[in-house]
Amino acid sequence: MVMVMNYEMNDTTDYHIHGLDTLGWELTVCNALDPDDSPCRRVLRRNDSYGHLLYDYLSRFIPIRSLRKIIEIGGGYGYLMRDFLNRNNTLQATMLDISPYLLQRQRDTLSPFSVCFIQADIMDVQSPELQSFDLAILNENLGDLPTLVDAPPEAFASSRQDPDPLLEQVRSIFHRYAIEEPEDVRVNVNIGALSVLEKLCRAGIPFIFMGEHSCEAVAPEPWQHLVRLRPTGNPERIRLRGHDEYTIRFTDLEKIARAFQYRIIRGPFADFLAFDFTDKFRYIMAAKSTHTDEHEIIRHFIEDLYQYEYLILIKGRDATAAG
Ligand SMILES: C[S@@+](CC[C@H](N)C(=O)[O-])C[C@H]1O[C@@H](n2cnc3c(N)ncnc32)[C@H](O)[C@@H]1O
Repeated sequence: MVMVMNYEMNDTTDYHIHGLDTLGWELTVCNALDPDDSPCRRVLRRNDSYGHLLYDYLSRFIPIRSLRKIIEIGGGYGYLMRDFLNRNNTLQATMLDISPYLLQRQRDTLSPFSVCFIQADIMDVQSPELQSFDLAILNENLGDLPTLVDAPPEAFASSRQDPDPLLEQVRSIFHRYAIEEPEDVRVNVNIGALSVLEKLCRAGIPFIFMGEHSCEAVAPEPWQHLVRLRPTGNPERIRLRGHDEYTIRFTDLEKIARAFQYRIIRGPFADFLAFDFTDKFRYIMAAKSTHTDEHEIIRHFIEDLYQYEYLILIKGRDATAAG
């Protein structure tokens, strides 16, 4: 008996190569913090850019001063890398991006530095091509990678022998890393993010940072009545201009990293974009309706600080070094 599996694949390749001509519609946390006078910066304990705050945070865990080769995959406008190179101009940087438009923006932003630019789909890059890098950064792009949408539970049964290569790939990655198979429900699977992480781990890159919108995020207990998140555990669709992306199930990524003997540090962006829940912010978060545009921006930004999670992955024995 042939069972027909009706599922969809969310694929943003065409949009990124041919459609994308701005990131304005999907204001990333990095871009939101870029202008010196950004209202989001005023929320933070330290008024600084995303890249500087992230660099300083990473240097608590990894010997970033002594690293040589860094690759950023999906670097958007290039602001994060600009900040890293401002902090440390001995880094040899490579920017890999699928979007010709954004690669040009990165060239412009990074023109004062010597940087290598590669136009490629990370899904097509092989592990050996990544072996020479000491640090890989993937910021707010895992959700763009291919996602299996609405997969029925039967698709995960390891005894199935159907000829669908995509389902076979999903089953085999679930099996290799003992990722829990869904029971009785249709789910979305971040297959692109899982395969890219497997590729980076297989390449043996000693340090990896990934950050993205999570489907498992919860605010810390004291703030849960103010920052109301819905951790469904199932990657959720976010509709954007010209394409959709999906939130990320970080627990599955952790399983892959652990299998490759990485030490894992996981948390919300609020760990490195630290802020204090002052009376003013409590008032803004508690208000049923928003009074000003600035309050609306701040409310979304504070939600994002908990809705976005990161992983710092540290291979083997380097786990204790700090730079
Ligand atoms: C939402 S933007 C994030 C940009 C930036 N990292 C930031 O945080 O502002 C996603 C980035 O990932 C890139 N991207 C999306 N899919 C990709 C793929 N398959 N391979 C390489 N880059 C990809 C996009 O072109 C873009 O630069």
